[in-house]
Amino acid sequence: MKCKRCKAPAVVALPSHHAGFCPDCYKIFFARQVERAIHGQRLFSHEDRILVALSGGKDSLALMLELGRQGYDVTGLHVDLAIPDSSAAARAVVEGFCAEHGFALRVVELEREGLAIPLVKARLKRPICSACGKIKRYFFNKVALDEGFTVLATGHNLDDEVARLFANTLRWDRAYLADQGPLLPPENGFARKVKPLYRLSEFETANYAFLMGIDYHTAPCPYSTGASFTGHKKLWADLEHRSPGQKLAFYELFLKQGREAFAAQERRVGAAVAPCPECGYPTSAEICGVCRVRRALAGEGGGPGVGGDLDDRDD
Ligand code: AMP
Ligand code: FES
Ligand code: ZN
Repeated sequence: MKCKRCKAPAVVALPSHHAGFCPDCYKIFFARQVERAIHGQRLFSHEDRILVALSGGKDSLALMLELGRQGYDVTGLHVDLAIPDSSAAARAVVEGFCAEHGFALRVVELEREGLAIPLVKARLKRPICSACGKIKRYFFNKVALDEGFTVLATGHNLDDEVARLFANTLRWDRAYLADQGPLLPPENGFARKVKPLYRLSEFETANYAFLMGIDYHTAPCPYSTGASFTGHKKLWADLEHRSPGQKLAFYELFLKQGREAFAAQERRVGAAVAPCPECGYPTSAEICGVCRVRRALAGEGGGPGVGGDLDDRDD
């Protein structure tokens, strides 16, 4: 196969785009997809101060590198979860990456916050992932607002987004369907949140990371029972194989035609959000989810109710 742009031998085949690319043209393809996401969805501009949440995985590091190459004002944020072995390795990857490329980096240490994930896990006695996600999002938002960043970016890719959209659709979860997309505007004490990789599949970001020589953290979280939405992702891989391009079309058509219907409905019923009386974080509950975790750790009960409410916008 030949490169679609320059006719040199192709190294990456992309059936969904009816194209193959040589290494250099692949990087251009990747950059264009990110640009299309940023401009097409009006995610941010070169005036913005962007905080990029870096887990150490390929997606967030690829995102940071590409935004830096495009001249955006980016700073990394890593949340060190304090999980033995795993967290130190992920943090070292993020620190090495930022040092190598000259990116500024903030690190939040959950240990120092009294919220080390092993501690929370032991106290909650139920799957840790949703509480962990909530704690991470809490600090993404807090650092962004406290330090004057105008945008918070995460490395969610097309596969993540489609699997989540599909799960929300299977449940016809109106609140989540109203909110899902690559842009969540700033409101009610939440920072503006963006997902500039939403047009790129996991395969495509992995290729970019490989071609750019990014050394990323690959070990899965020791507490996770597997990647989220694994079953849905398999189903979508099959659909995409039969009909290349369907994944992106499903998501883009939702953005164009589906989301507003749910958003309009939710604006009518909208849950009231107010600052948490203990920490000021926006919440629709009496106190926010993270303060409930803190209470549970202090032995004041509240453990079972930590997840599942609407006091933070989902990723
Ligand atoms: P995940 O839910 O693990 O697939 O992560 C989705 C996105 O959240 C990643 O692409 C990162 O942008 C961000 N993220 C996840 N974990 C962390 C972390 N420990 N520190 C900073 N950002 C993170
Ligand atoms: Fe949070 Fe595994 S429990 S990443
Ligand atoms: Zn709170």
